[in-house]
Amino acid sequence: MRVGILTGGGDCPGLNAVIRAAVLAGTQRHGFEFVGFLDGWRGVLEGDVVPLDEARVRPLLAVGGTVLGSSRTNPMKDGVEAGVAAVRASLERLGVDALLAIGGEDTLGVATALHEAGVPVVGAPKTIDNDLSATDATFGFDTAVQTAVDACDKLASTGASHHRAMLVEVMGRHAGWIALHTGMAAGAHVTLLPEEPVDLDAVAETVRTVLARGDAPLIVLSEGAPVLGDHAVKDAPTDAFGHVQLGGAGEQLDRELQQRVPGLSTRLTVLGHLVRGGSPSAADRVLATRFGLSAITALAEGELGTMASLRGTDVVQVPLADATKVLRTVPEHRVAESAGLSW
Ligand code: F6P
Repeated sequence: MRVGILTGGGDCPGLNAVIRAAVLAGTQRHGFEFVGFLDGWRGVLEGDVVPLDEARVRPLLAVGGTVLGSSRTNPMKDGVEAGVAAVRASLERLGVDALLAIGGEDTLGVATALHEAGVPVVGAPKTIDNDLSATDATFGFDTAVQTAVDACDKLASTGASHHRAMLVEVMGRHAGWIALHTGMAAGAHVTLLPEEPVDLDAVAETVRTVLARGDAPLIVLSEGAPVLGDHAVKDAPTDAFGHVQLGGAGEQLDRELQQRVPGLSTRLTVLGHLVRGGSPSAADRVLATRFGLSAITALAEGELGTMASLRGTDVVQVPLADATKVLRTVPEHRVAESAGLSW
């Protein structure tokens, strides 16, 4: 069998580890051949492929990003029928029998539509946001949180020297997992998530209390935190999947706090894409490798239309369609468990 691998959507530490495990296991256990499609669905539509063999993938375990490149190209943007026909024609032209799609909600949504139309496909979920409902965790999240915590630790030390409030904005459009875990691990005094309304007066009160006892306030917020009641949106066009680009939540919070706390010195750091880059953590390398192995076994055993998923400590295959059903946001009990305490 000739298998085409693609990585779509925002990149994520661990993508290369999935590719490596899939190619090594597919070649050695099942005699599969592999090609890589460049830049996600763009490569599929345009027939832009590179060979993927054992020698190419072996060094990839610790390499950040994706060697295949990624894009937010949506093959279904002119309708599912046209998209399926274009993908099918390209696969036939290239002699590719099946696809391994590694991606988040959007990429796996396209994979689901292809599966429903009879195109052989399996998936592996990725996103640093950790917001896919069909898996307990996605690789990339652990690395992103560690990077954000390292940054917060450094920012906290300079904040303490200058008696400043340090504001740290992290990724997370609709799900605040990165902010929640970063805030907890870095000992933030305030953590603001997209899931919860923001009480600016309460945040200001915490800042005053922390300063009054001689500490420097550390505030972690998601880019999607509704500081002024709604997401802060950049004046930019939506992408091919209809997503707006967020931006400015940290600046809004900064302005509001300065108004509420006279004389307050603040510094805002927007970590942005920093947390998406770099070498995957050990935990992410393991999860990504297990997802790659599981997806290839599924392909060999004819479990098409499924994706690798972590359930407890086991990796199992679940229907691709489940990945995109509901966004896994931070539940109330996770907010409540750390709320109301003076950290
Ligand atoms: O991968 C998801 C994500 O990290 C979001 O948290 C963020 O809003 C988005 O990607 C930004 O991606 P890009 O700038 O690459 O479009």
